[in-house]
Amino acid sequence: MALSGDGDNFRARRKRMMEAIAPGATAIMPSMPVAVRSGDVEFIYRQDSDFYYLTGFAEPESVAVLSPGHPDGEFVMFVRPRDKERETWTGRRAGVEGAIVEYGADKAYVIDELEKILPRYLEKSERVHYPLGLNEKMDERVLKLIRWAHTMRPRTGVGPSSIIDSRDIIHEARVKKEPAELEAMRRAMAISADAHKRAMMKARGGMREWQIEAEIEYAFRSQGATGPSYPSIVASGPNAATLHYINNDREMRTGELLLIDAGAEYDFYAADITRTWPIGARFTGLQRSLYEIVLDAQLKAIDAIKPGMHFDDPHEVALRVLVDGMRQLGILHGSAEEIIETGAYRRYYMHRTGHWLGMDVHDVGLYRVDGASRVLEPGMVLTVEPGLYIYPDDDEVPESFRGVGIRIEDDVLVTEDGHEVMTAATPKSIADVEALTAAQ
Ligand code: GLY
Ligand code: MN
Ligand code: MN
Repeated sequence: MALSGDGDNFRARRKRMMEAIAPGATAIMPSMPVAVRSGDVEFIYRQDSDFYYLTGFAEPESVAVLSPGHPDGEFVMFVRPRDKERETWTGRRAGVEGAIVEYGADKAYVIDELEKILPRYLEKSERVHYPLGLNEKMDERVLKLIRWAHTMRPRTGVGPSSIIDSRDIIHEARVKKEPAELEAMRRAMAISADAHKRAMMKARGGMREWQIEAEIEYAFRSQGATGPSYPSIVASGPNAATLHYINNDREMRTGELLLIDAGAEYDFYAADITRTWPIGARFTGLQRSLYEIVLDAQLKAIDAIKPGMHFDDPHEVALRVLVDGMRQLGILHGSAEEIIETGAYRRYYMHRTGHWLGMDVHDVGLYRVDGASRVLEPGMVLTVEPGLYIYPDDDEVPESFRGVGIRIEDDVLVTEDGHEVMTAATPKSIADVEALTAAQ
């Protein structure tokens, strides 16, 4: 029987992982633990991204083992057993047979057999790759077995002498996206574009922010997304100056700016989009002057993305445009060099301009290599999200600027000869935004 879903992609990733750790090592990966929300209710389960990246297996209470060259099989899974009664309550389990037939394991066992079976793999390994701290219960079980294998080492001459964090290798692989990954991301982004457009059309003065949150998440779920890839930020007026505002409970007023930072997760891949626009209205002159600075900073930062440029380049470009714009509006004083040197701009722009994006919204991968900002390569995806935030009580700026937060965020793929704005379908020019926000 053919493997389910993207079986070949997962198999190819495991093969690369095994090549990276061989010879003489075993990688053990625990699944994400289940988290309790309240009482006997759990949070909706989300598999650990690294675990899913290598296995495609979304069930909890499982362990995957990669042991290159092991005579009993190189890819071993420990999973929950089939259980007719439990499955009636909580849904189908793949079970031991499913792990082999559907997920391509060479061998599979029920999770309770970990202590019996895992030593066969550990006792022949010089090194164990394991992500400590991800799943504490599993850490306890695995460390006990590693300790045991270690005590055997003097007698047998083999067995683990070091534990290495497996994440470095997996994360380096995840930084550059494969075609199938980009496909899932494009779907997440297309759904998110619809959600942002829906919000622009629906938001009107007198509504609560949570009504718009509901519109966005309706668009996500009704198009097959898992849901938001991070808590949706729907921040009107002064709330937009709080970077991770998620209460979303204020009554909005017509003409105020609304900052929405929301992205869908589709098949384990995230979108991350921010737009800021006037509620049920056109931009006022003042809103427009601030918005244009942020938009200019964002467009110029995006232009700095191509192979050979560095991860920090878009940030430096955006920062310079923001600082120049704020000087022109009388928000900051002094030379641009001085403002950047002293960090005086941080009062109004306190975050970086982007991050990697992929299975996780703040995706894995190094930002610096050998002490320098990382060189961009085709297949990398990063966000570009400059902003300006002026607190309501900031008495150093003219009153009319106070209580304003603007951010514009797109997701950008580094291509062979430049870049592609993957989220271009979400309106951001003043004309395109006003066509939706001010429509009757
Ligand atoms: N939504 C989180 C971020 O923009 O980084
Ligand atoms: Mn972001
Ligand atoms: Mn965001």
